[in-house]
Amino acid sequence: MRAAPQAPATDTSHAERKATEASQTARVFIEEPGLAPKVVLLPRGKDMRVGRGEELEIVLADRRVSRCHVILRHERVGVLVRDAGSSNGTFLGERKLEAPATVGAGTVVRVGDSRLVISLPAEEAPRSDAAFEAMIAVDPASVQLRALVRRVAGSAVPVLVQGETGTGKELVARELHRASPRTAGPFVAVNCAALPESIAESELFGHEKGSFTGAQGRRTGVFEQAHGGTLLLDEVGELSASNQARLLRVLQERVLVRVGGDRAIPVDVRIVAATNRDLAVSAARREFREDLYFRLNGITLEVLPLRSRTGDVLPLTERFIAELGPGLRLGSGVGVALQAYRWPGNVRELRHAVAHAVALAEGAEILLEHLPTAVRGAAGSPLGDGSLRDRMDDLERQSIVAALAASDGNQSRTARILGLSRRALIYKLERYGLKPPPGTRT
Ligand SMILES: Nc1ncnc2c1ncn2[C@@H]1O[C@H](COP(=O)(O)OP(=O)(O)OP(=O)(O)O)[C@@H](O)[C@H]1O
Ligand SMILES: [Mg+2]
Repeated sequence: MRAAPQAPATDTSHAERKATEASQTARVFIEEPGLAPKVVLLPRGKDMRVGRGEELEIVLADRRVSRCHVILRHERVGVLVRDAGSSNGTFLGERKLEAPATVGAGTVVRVGDSRLVISLPAEEAPRSDAAFEAMIAVDPASVQLRALVRRVAGSAVPVLVQGETGTGKELVARELHRASPRTAGPFVAVNCAALPESIAESELFGHEKGSFTGAQGRRTGVFEQAHGGTLLLDEVGELSASNQARLLRVLQERVLVRVGGDRAIPVDVRIVAATNRDLAVSAARREFREDLYFRLNGITLEVLPLRSRTGDVLPLTERFIAELGPGLRLGSGVGVALQAYRWPGNVRELRHAVAHAVALAEGAEILLEHLPTAVRGAAGSPLGDGSLRDRMDDLERQSIVAALAASDGNQSRTARILGLSRRALIYKLERYGLKPPPGTRT
């Protein structure tokens, strides 16, 4: 599950809880190959050296890590990462660290074969570089969605974000929080699908000490952690019937009782629910409580699949290149191929494709051959799923992409290859949202 870091739950009032949260330290989760993950605290203002040297603050066993590899320091906002002259470098995600950088929560620092995942107190800084956080919206459909997000952000109406996997539902929820009057409060996300039934209730609503076997201390749930802010219930359709009932009660009464507790604790939380299945259908089929569906669904924000907003593909690609491989350009035919592909994994898949290409690119350009096979093959197999009409459209679109690539984006030549008039080609380019990337000849 994804949730903000938790305070040791010893507090009794919201004021005290706020104070505890504020004093929370940053943490780093350490994942070394073959070892159980561990967590180390990062006290503010203190250099924490990471490497194989026994004298260091954070000692790793990974043989591909230098004696003193990297230094982490929790600053006023974020964590400063400095390579300490390691032999094989320090990476932020896919990007090699060239100069010291301040990073936010969720950043993955890679050293040798190990990963260091930064975790920060909830109210400190966004989860990564602010410039890489904001939502890209260039296609008219996305511009409209973003405007709608900002409009509903001001109200308290519950929001249901619906869309295929990887379309950016969580980003929409974050944008909603950021544009809302609750922006100074915490944003907490919990993935309901990843909650084992045995602990879901306590994760959501917290528990009192000794309330069940293994409940060693008191613990606040995500609802309490999000007090004064926004709670994203991701994949809310996956909640069990009993937790749906409990959630409904909390939404109606605005108070909760921790598992094993007897005290009603008021919670002031804006709920954003996200789902990649049609909750209305689930509700109609009685798989999801209808009354809860109506509670959650004050307004539905539909995040379109990436293939239905092709205008976002190149701007998103640029953003991901700036983040993962700054300075790289798109070579001939690449922009068109990216716009032509169907992106079943949506924006997340595009991000992965860019990371893949950045890793393979040798010169200053990303070439077709650097793209993942499936993406490159957008000009290849006509066998997809969907209706015959969809497959014909795919085939037509892919043929156009292949011809465009073969003629370096020259439209007259493309039309000739396809046996179309230039007008017919332009009509089809528009129909499939295949705008030529800037700089190509027409
Ligand atoms: N409009 C956008 N601008 C910039 N980045 C985006 C945009 N949409 C999505 N992303 C990026 O794509 C990735 C997937 O987005 P996100 O996690 O919000 O999708 P999701 O719909 O919640 O996916 P899932 O259904 O798997 O939970 C993230 O890295 C996110 O930052
Ligand atoms: Mg999500």
